[in-house]
Amino acid sequence: MKAHLTRRYIFSASHRLHSEALSEAENRATYGKCNNPHGHGHNYALEVTVSGHVNQQTGMICNLLDLDDAVQREIIERFDHDNLNVRPEFEAIVPTTENLNEVIFRILKQSFKAAHLEKVRLEETMMNSFEYAGGTELRV
Ligand code: NI
Repeated sequence: MKAHLTRRYIFSASHRLHSEALSEAENRATYGKCNNPHGHGHNYALEVTVSGHVNQQTGMICNLLDLDDAVQREIIERFDHDNLNVRPEFEAIVPTTENLNEVIFRILKQSFKAAHLEKVRLEETMMNSFEYAGGTELRV
């Protein structure tokens, strides 16, 4: 039987929701205040869920320090206190939290191998959160 482990991380970033494929009016109609030219910030809460067998000797799925190191190095240092719109990861996609979540999943899948990455969950505000578990193409 597999066990699951979820760890929570906090970082802050700003974004402006704006699509180059839409006109100014369409952008305003689609994104509302989130399309304001100077952007706005969020305190994101990121939950990373990994799974695996519990090691007989350590009693753990994986060492939390290894997970913390990977998230710190690959996600927090990359995005914390930055403007998502100018990041290379969002050159071709709008930095919505759906897309940020998928980017985080893809990066962690590449960089963290000590346990199986099950899913990432990103809280943008107290009122909304997004989950992505990979496996299928996210964008249509
Ligand atoms: Ni926002």
